[in-house]
Amino acid sequence: MTIAQKEWTKSSWHHYPALQQPNWPDPEEYRAALGTLCQLPPLVFAGEIRKLKKMLAKAAVGEAFLLQGGDCAEDFSHCTAPGIRESLKVILQMAIILTYAGGKPVIKVGRIAGQYAKPRSADTEMVNGIEIPSYRGDMVNSPEPTLAARRPDPQRMVKGYYLAAATMNILRAFTRGGYAALHRVHAWNNEFVKRSPMGQSYERLAKHISQAIDFMRVIGLDTDTPQINQADFYTSHEALLLGYEEAMTRQDSTAGGWYDCSAHMLWIGDRTRQVDGAHVEFFRGVLNPLGMKVGPSYDIDDIKRILDRLNPENEPGRMTLITRFGAKKIAQYLPPLLQAISRAGHQVVWSCDPMHGNTYTAASGHKTRNFDEIMEEIRCFFEIHWAEGTNPGGVHFELTGEDVTECTGGGRNILDHHLQENYLTNCDPRLNAEQSLELAFQIAELIRS
Ligand code: PEP
Ligand code: CO
Repeated sequence: MTIAQKEWTKSSWHHYPALQQPNWPDPEEYRAALGTLCQLPPLVFAGEIRKLKKMLAKAAVGEAFLLQGGDCAEDFSHCTAPGIRESLKVILQMAIILTYAGGKPVIKVGRIAGQYAKPRSADTEMVNGIEIPSYRGDMVNSPEPTLAARRPDPQRMVKGYYLAAATMNILRAFTRGGYAALHRVHAWNNEFVKRSPMGQSYERLAKHISQAIDFMRVIGLDTDTPQINQADFYTSHEALLLGYEEAMTRQDSTAGGWYDCSAHMLWIGDRTRQVDGAHVEFFRGVLNPLGMKVGPSYDIDDIKRILDRLNPENEPGRMTLITRFGAKKIAQYLPPLLQAISRAGHQVVWSCDPMHGNTYTAASGHKTRNFDEIMEEIRCFFEIHWAEGTNPGGVHFELTGEDVTECTGGGRNILDHHLQENYLTNCDPRLNAEQSLELAFQIAELIRS
């Protein structure tokens, strides 16, 4: 019997090797935490998940554009109203730039409300001569470099659930309760960005939008509609901790299928996408839209087998392939992948993660990425898709609304020696609000052409 014919249950992944799982020191504690999670309400609903999948089906054929972004790793201590609002604002701003200047509906998906678990290249690290477990995200352990802080604690999954719920709650209030209304487009501009050239370009665009809405009102068109007063905003995270994802998986009471209700969209990381691995087994049975990261180590036949397994009906909107090759390697790795997947007839959304293939260590010792290389990978992504006749359907960023100095370059030309000024990330370096807007303006031009 092939795997595809074997029965799927939300626990069938236990029979397959699961990479990147923490070594939970106490199995009893682990089981108890999962037992608690199983009883708690879902964070998102099947109807919302289906709506996102329909939108992604449009991105697959070039009728919409996916904007996915947020922290590399969300930090428990940053679950505050201002923190969440700033992340939301920058994504709303980027989306409005892409919609208005790019001329396509934009699907807004945050790396938010659950992006708490990280894959790592090594299980342990040496700190002052002592070997301690690696930091694996706030849902597993704490970043402080001590043995006690790094001990995986399953109660952190429960805490992560509650913080994801709190984040979700305020996101729903912001996006449904008027904050994301288009006539507030000026209010999304940050004080520290406003005076920059990017902030000013944004102000000009916001003015055009306000004028268009005023005009509609003057001629008697109804502007009191959800299209104007609300935003559809979806959540996503790397679905790494399969115990947690299983506990959040519920059967839809109306249509009967299984949904992972920890987020609307889940993605499988570049390190855990083994065709016979536990992650692929788990995700073949849930109906959420799925992302999968694809880096330079891919094997084409493997990717095809995974797509067959995860999307046997070739449903559009089900799969988003998020390529992350780096500016220097994309020309070598993307074209053969596009050709093979198109030839095999798979319908996917192609998205570009220009962050993870462009990481380097600055002279100051900080892990960073350069604005121009990020933009270069995106430009190549569009050009290669145009040349191959496929659709550049989206982008995937690590970003924050805060005024951080984690990536170099951009309008303010952050240099290596500036990185220490406000380097806050626990994991990978993020674009700040100004750099994010600048990218959005440049991407809008590519979408339009
Ligand atoms: C990430 O998105 O933070 C990540 C770890 O990516 P990848 O799986 O592409 O390395
Ligand atoms: Co990252």
